[in-house]
Amino acid sequence: MKILITGVAGFIGFSFANYLLKKKKIKIYGIDNYDNYYSVKFKHLRIKKLKANKNFVFNKIDITKKKDLSNYFKKKDFDYIFHFAAQAGVRYSLINPKKYFKVNKVGFENIFSNIIKLKKLKTFFYASSSSVYGSKKKFPTFESSSLSPQSIYAKTKVLNEKFANKMSNKVNFKILGLRFFTVYGEWGRPDMFIFKMLKSHKNNKIFYLNNFGNHQRDFTYIQDILIILFKLIKIKKFNHKAINICSSKPINIKKLSDYLKKKLNMKRIKSIKKNSYDVNTTHGSNLLLKKYVKVKKFTNFKKGLNNTVNWYLKNKIYKL
Ligand SMILES: NC(=O)c1ccc[n+]([C@@H]2O[C@H](COP(=O)([O-])OP(=O)(O)OC[C@H]3O[C@@H](n4cnc5c(N)ncnc54)[C@H](O)[C@@H]3O)[C@@H](O)[C@H]2O)c1
Repeated sequence: MKILITGVAGFIGFSFANYLLKKKKIKIYGIDNYDNYYSVKFKHLRIKKLKANKNFVFNKIDITKKKDLSNYFKKKDFDYIFHFAAQAGVRYSLINPKKYFKVNKVGFENIFSNIIKLKKLKTFFYASSSSVYGSKKKFPTFESSSLSPQSIYAKTKVLNEKFANKMSNKVNFKILGLRFFTVYGEWGRPDMFIFKMLKSHKNNKIFYLNNFGNHQRDFTYIQDILIILFKLIKIKKFNHKAINICSSKPINIKKLSDYLKKKLNMKRIKSIKKNSYDVNTTHGSNLLLKKYVKVKKFTNFKKGLNNTVNWYLKNKIYKL
């Protein structure tokens, strides 16, 4: 089985490639442009680990470069594609909105114009985001809830979903949007809460706690995500266009920061007011997800968190 993963030097792409490479008869093709939004050294480390497996083939490709991308797809055929390459991060979309349109919208459409030519493709999975829902008052959020993106990042994910939905009647393969909710774990993103807090601590810098920690996030452990994604590959038919990928157990950020503060004896934390782009709560329903795949149990948050923190400190990721 041949699987293409875009954004393979990134957190979810790398983790999924690493997981699949342990299975038999799977060849992984990965592309990424080593974008410098966060530590490129860290991304190289991830690719180095994947390259140790002979069933992994990497190409440095920028999905916004049409010609390079179409050359890449020449003479290739994949059974499944996981499109994870994107400019991630809600807050950075306030600083550099153009990049989001270029990578997330134009890049997505470039990928699409190439995959329609593939003969064996069974499913095109792509990363959407919980941010497509915007601020909600009722929880949990179901897939049928209205979409009201609050940031440029979220808007580009809605554009992807609209484009994919429009194309779904015109292609021979299945398409599924994956609405991820705050994924965390080993090899995670340095721009996200847990690693940001750990890095400030290790570098003896002040950690700024947004909105006084008055947020709830539906943290979902990477190891659970990997099992779910693998199970989704085997589904013969999807009756939905996008599904929530979440544990459906929101965690209060203040409680999380208090826990880390105590665990690490952190001193330098400063609470600041709310960022206009941040929604207060994300709390998805995973009932639909559970209809498609049997999930035994989501990992207990404390367990996932401790694994994550220990891995980060042991490997001195804050130095990268
Ligand atoms: N991690 C989460 O909690 C979360 C939540 C919701 C949605 N998502 C989405 O899931 C996907 C994967 O997220 P992640 O956390 O692994 O992010 P990530 O930033 O770690 O990975 C994205 C990868 O895409 C690559 N990339 C960026 N621009 C590119 C380009 N022009 N050409 C080729 N590659 C490019 C980056 O170099 C990076 O390695 C993204 O689409 C993201 O928006 C993630």
